[in-house]
Amino acid sequence: MHGAKHMELTMKDHLIIFDTTLRDGEQSPGASMTKEEKVRIAKQLERMKVDIIEAGFPAASNGDFESVKAVASVIKDSTVCGLARALERDIDRAGEAIQGAASGRIHTFLATSPIHMEKKLRMTPDQVVEQAVKAVHWARKWTDNVEFSPEDAGRSELDFLCRVLEAVIAAGATTVNIPDTVGYNMPQQFGELIRNLRERVPNSDKAVFSVHCHNDLGLAVANSLSAVLNGARQVECTINGLGERAGNAALEEIVMTVRTRQDVFTCDTGIDTTQIVSASRLVSGITGFAVQPNKAIVGANAFAHESGIHQDGVLKHRQTYEIMRAEDVGWSANKMVLGKHSGRNAFRTRLQEIGIELESEEAVNAAFARFKELADKKHEIFDDDLQALVSDEAQAQEQEVYKLVSLKVCSETGETPHANIVLAEQGAEKQARATGGGPVDASFKAIEIIVNSGAELLLYSVNNITSGTDAQGEVTVRLSRGGRIVNGQGADTDIVVASAKAYLHALNKLHSKLERAHPQV
Ligand code: KIV
Ligand code: ZN
Repeated sequence: MHGAKHMELTMKDHLIIFDTTLRDGEQSPGASMTKEEKVRIAKQLERMKVDIIEAGFPAASNGDFESVKAVASVIKDSTVCGLARALERDIDRAGEAIQGAASGRIHTFLATSPIHMEKKLRMTPDQVVEQAVKAVHWARKWTDNVEFSPEDAGRSELDFLCRVLEAVIAAGATTVNIPDTVGYNMPQQFGELIRNLRERVPNSDKAVFSVHCHNDLGLAVANSLSAVLNGARQVECTINGLGERAGNAALEEIVMTVRTRQDVFTCDTGIDTTQIVSASRLVSGITGFAVQPNKAIVGANAFAHESGIHQDGVLKHRQTYEIMRAEDVGWSANKMVLGKHSGRNAFRTRLQEIGIELESEEAVNAAFARFKELADKKHEIFDDDLQALVSDEAQAQEQEVYKLVSLKVCSETGETPHANIVLAEQGAEKQARATGGGPVDASFKAIEIIVNSGAELLLYSVNNITSGTDAQGEVTVRLSRGGRIVNGQGADTDIVVASAKAYLHALNKLHSKLERAHPQV
């Protein structure tokens, strides 16, 4: 009996989790990330035990190339992947970017649907097969870990897809990824497509079948899981479902469905699910894409029981209304940890426990000084406060043109709010005063008197990091100038100060020389 159970456990396949938050996720308008931000997210993905991290599209811009290279140099436990069109120069860029990785992959793609081949590529099917094969051969010069995607596979003809897949596998592709690029497929149809391909492509056993589903009809997760039930063993997904247009399949939903319904799936992932909520918060903080409260797994209400009947049921027996435990995805990890009297050692130990490594003793000291300041204003310091504090410190270490020196705001009933601000611009202090519709508006106007950035404000949002009115507010500001879009973040118990910090962070990013372009431009 025991032996049989053991056999059953060991026979489960491994479902490879390929995270593309840093590539497809970044293609959401306004979600562009700096190199440092990509590295921070990549480290969290590694902590979560993601198998493959697609870090970017190196040929898209120098900024993207440098980001993939930086991620490849710091990540040791996950494979780092670079995307490339099926062109030698793109593949060479991706190959160079992943050179330093402990384990690297090149992902190359070419469209195979009639509409893409005819209208976009202006190529015949024969030419597409030839170019796909050439691209895979070329990529194999850099690495033996090569993935090929027939773009818009979801609208491609089955016979032609079989032909392309057979050819690229023979050329050396070790993973073949079937994208539903435009989110058009239905779960049953997509599952059948995967089964048919696996059965009909003669050398299908030589490659891992992967899927990459977009969410235009809200079916990305359902389609991916249907594919898994039909033999796909890699799923491409993103944290919070971020991605081009309506996004990609949400990693947290894929992972938790497979884990919760082990009675249905013959595979499982290696993900450390307790890291999911931290990853979700990190990505939403950096990109400024808020998570809706009723979002599965990572929404603030995902485990909140409001109705009396439900609360009563859960208190009597948890499983009456809960199919997963909040702590299994990292919700309750946010326990009260430190306070005003906590010492440097307790602070450092807690940072290590939640997976934050500070690079130097100076960085620990600077973060500890900030922690003490915060503890003076806020009684209980939670893990999420520590995360925000370290992000703030990381920003302070970046090359900043503008730094906040002081801010004084006045808002009184019946009076026009005004703000007096002192900034250091390249070290030289400048001050300005402005009035506005409210204290935040007045502060931003005062900053603009000094900076005169010409940027357009696309987004301003505030979230409380923990609960209670003494919580830190985390502000995201999205600015656009000359076709470039950047996000700035700031955290403070005073939301006007947090707002000014976020605005300056965004302005500093606009100032940075690093070339950043939307990956598809
Ligand atoms: O959606 C898509 O087809 C893609 C490919 C590059 C895999 O993102
Ligand atoms: Zn995509």
